[in-house]
Amino acid sequence: MKSVLFVCLGNICRSPLGEGILRDKVNRKGLDLKIDSAGTESLHVGESPDRRSTKTAREKGIDISKQVARQIRISDFDEFDLILVADAQVYREVISMTRNETDKKKVDFMMNMLKPGSNTAVPDPYYGGQDGFEKVYDMLNRACDSLLKNLK
Ligand code: 4NP
Repeated sequence: MKSVLFVCLGNICRSPLGEGILRDKVNRKGLDLKIDSAGTESLHVGESPDRRSTKTAREKGIDISKQVARQIRISDFDEFDLILVADAQVYREVISMTRNETDKKKVDFMMNMLKPGSNTAVPDPYYGGQDGFEKVYDMLNRACDSLLKNLK
């Protein structure tokens, strides 16, 4: 596996954290892995991550402020080996874009990296407080550790 794409709704809260956390771990370990993130919706395209995500990451020593939100595109299925979705709604959207079985096989839930097949959602923190972002960080931190442990 050489590339991972994190996908949520807006690409401003959850998937930027996933991208930032995994990139930080990969850099620390000196691994070579292409990492990016995207959203299923176009609402926030071109924006920086939500400042609550940026703050949560910064407190852990990770700078995600330079990321820019973009929407998922068909070519992502060619460019990435693994496409990790935040929740069931995002899963349905992404699956609806797939062209064939090869594309479908690349799509999995972020939290399935920790508990395969559980399809646990990373809850949308957008309408809540800072604590929701801390929870997202903790979940994704564990998922990314597990992903790298099982990397083939
Ligand atoms: P994300 O969070 O999908 O984790 O980036 C959201 C960001 C924006 C909205 C919903 C969720 N929104 O409704 O604008």
